[in-house]
Amino acid sequence: MSYNNLLVENNDGIALVTINRPKKLNALNRETLGEIRQAFAKLEQDEEVKVIIITGTGEKAFVAGADISEFADYSVEEGKDLSAKGHKEVFDMIANFKKPVIAAVNGFALGGGLELAMAAHFRIASENAKLGLPETSLGVIPGYGGTQRLPQLVGKGRAMEMIMTAGMIDANQALQYGLVNHVTPLEELMEFTEKIAGKIMKNSMVAISQAIDAINANYEDGVNGFDKEIEGFGKSFGTEDFKEGTSAFLNKEKPNFPNK
Ligand code: COA
Repeated sequence: MSYNNLLVENNDGIALVTINRPKKLNALNRETLGEIRQAFAKLEQDEEVKVIIITGTGEKAFVAGADISEFADYSVEEGKDLSAKGHKEVFDMIANFKKPVIAAVNGFALGGGLELAMAAHFRIASENAKLGLPETSLGVIPGYGGTQRLPQLVGKGRAMEMIMTAGMIDANQALQYGLVNHVTPLEELMEFTEKIAGKIMKNSMVAISQAIDAINANYEDGVNGFDKEIEGFGKSFGTEDFKEGTSAFLNKEKPNFPNK
């Protein structure tokens, strides 16, 4: 399947999803958001795919935001619909994805771009990355989860400052804030990210899926995360992965997970 604004390749279980609109610094227009949704739906079904890495084309931008030219003349209702649809169909879908999603932030991650990176399960940035939510400088607020996910990741005060000033922070400050987990030189970003994906793939993907669910429950209203953990822990005991993992340990062998 080919896309207009997206490249998707699968290398030994790692799917690389690259936002590919370099002339617009990979800004997320409607078509790109639709393609991301489509691509992830396919990746979910693809049993060969274990981990997803999302990045941007080029050496300048991960994603420089939602495409401003598409919503500049929107009404109140249209603005609300744009945000609601984006949440449901793309950003929440990624945050709750059953397989690990890592954002490799290779340059500007602004507005919807940072929101996309924050919807991923964790982030790795290159040294040239600049991250920010500049929406208030455009007279709007973040609309793809930024007001919720940024404070969850960096704390309320830092999120307030970043959103109020509409400023950018560099990769090292993002590391210090806990917004990204690692910083690498740009030319090493993919190799480093793939190495982490490789470490993840040695473990039980069934258990990882349950863990994503339980961790996310901590951030959902009206859901008791501890109950979710108890449920997921119990379920693990009924999987082939659990039998393989525990018997391999007891036999002093490396596990070979069937992922069932
Ligand atoms: N939406 C639509 N187009 C965008 C865009 C966005 N979010 N971000 C960049 N582009 C386009 C520019 O309009 C320009 O297109 P053009 O060549 O047809 O004029 C092209 O991408 C290159 O961007 P440019 O601004 O010339 O690059 P720069 O190096 O001077 O500046 C940025 C880089 C990231 C600082 C600047 O592009 C920017 O501020 N972008 C908007 C960021 C933003 O506010 N995002 C939040 C949106 S809610």
